[in-house]
Amino acid sequence: MSRRAGKTEPVEDVHAREQLERRWFRRMKDMPALGALVTGERNRLEPYHRWLAYKQAFAPQLVREFIRQAEGYDVALPLLDPFSGSGTVAIEAARQGVPACGVEALSVLVFLTRARGLPASEALPPGDDLETLADACGQPAEQARLLLARARQHDSDGRPLRQPAALSRLLEQVQAMIAADLAAEPLGEVSVLQGDARRLDGLADGSCGGLLTSPPYLSRHDYTRIVRPLASLYGRWYPEEVALDEARALQIKAHPLARESRVPAVRHPAVEEVIANLRAREVPRMARIVHEYFADMKQALQAAARVLAPGAPAWIVIGGARLAEIYIPADLILLELAEKCGFAVRRVCRARDLHRGGRQLGGLTGVAPRETLLMLRREA
Ligand SMILES: C[S@@+](CC[C@H](N)C(=O)[O-])C[C@H]1O[C@@H](n2cnc3c(N)ncnc32)[C@H](O)[C@@H]1O
Repeated sequence: MSRRAGKTEPVEDVHAREQLERRWFRRMKDMPALGALVTGERNRLEPYHRWLAYKQAFAPQLVREFIRQAEGYDVALPLLDPFSGSGTVAIEAARQGVPACGVEALSVLVFLTRARGLPASEALPPGDDLETLADACGQPAEQARLLLARARQHDSDGRPLRQPAALSRLLEQVQAMIAADLAAEPLGEVSVLQGDARRLDGLADGSCGGLLTSPPYLSRHDYTRIVRPLASLYGRWYPEEVALDEARALQIKAHPLARESRVPAVRHPAVEEVIANLRAREVPRMARIVHEYFADMKQALQAAARVLAPGAPAWIVIGGARLAEIYIPADLILLELAEKCGFAVRRVCRARDLHRGGRQLGGLTGVAPRETLLMLRREA
């Protein structure tokens, strides 16, 4: 890291990231049609997916595309999503009649994903008092309904709405929606486990036929905060389940509030360069997030490689980032980490830009964090 004479602003080293961008430039295909599939914006139009709006979700259409066209996918083996979130993969797989296995750190999301496979429940007693309604919910199907109504009193970041509709009204809407979906298209069991994507405990080596997932993006969302209103209600009924604070320790360290750990650093020139630049800008907390994020993601890639059958396809939706004005090509870094973990690259598809206005990166112009679909294959 060098400094311009007489100026306090550190000059950013870009060499490793410029080289990385140049290495993949030719293989990166612009696929704007993917832009709509990497967000959950249209999920409110789809049965079962519309129950819970999770702004970090991707579209069930992407799951259908994977089932239809992912080369080498063994449809008889479970389709794995180690970062299941609102359960898009597990739910859509159940709709399509293919086996799947979701893994998610946050218990309340696991519960709500499984709830799609539950039969209809009795109506709850009338009233708007959350405590009274919570006490009246004896069955998982009833609990799920109250959770989904409660979710509608909050925005997509988990903050209370200024003027939320009354719970009784929201419960009626949720009940009508669930009844319509169950009647139109009964669903079997939806398979998802509470767990840690970095370990994938309980999944046997080579047992999964494909992987479709979207891990947390660098410094984007604190998922524990987003689900806090639901988790506190859920914890009343299931105090023995993994509590939110414990789940925070499981989260990929993608956010400033993530807990510190002592994972060994990932050796990749672009990661080292980003960390050095952030330290030079005197934002050590951000440097630590970057260090921990890639270390965690490497563990998750290693775990995924272990449980996938040889030759199985793996599609990963991932976004880049800009932290303290330092550009982080997280998509390409993960791609090269994946190669080290036993994956071969099939295609690199740019779905959309995450920031307006590209910047100069050494000799390159117009460089901005992207949202990318990495199409990989577990090496045989
Ligand atoms: C981008 S969201 C996935 C959204 C999902 N594709 C969907 O359609 O709803 C990432 C998810 O990973 C979960 N997560 C973060 N760290 C995890 C870990 N170590 N193990 C399992 N899940 C984790 C977060 O709680 C969050 O729900």
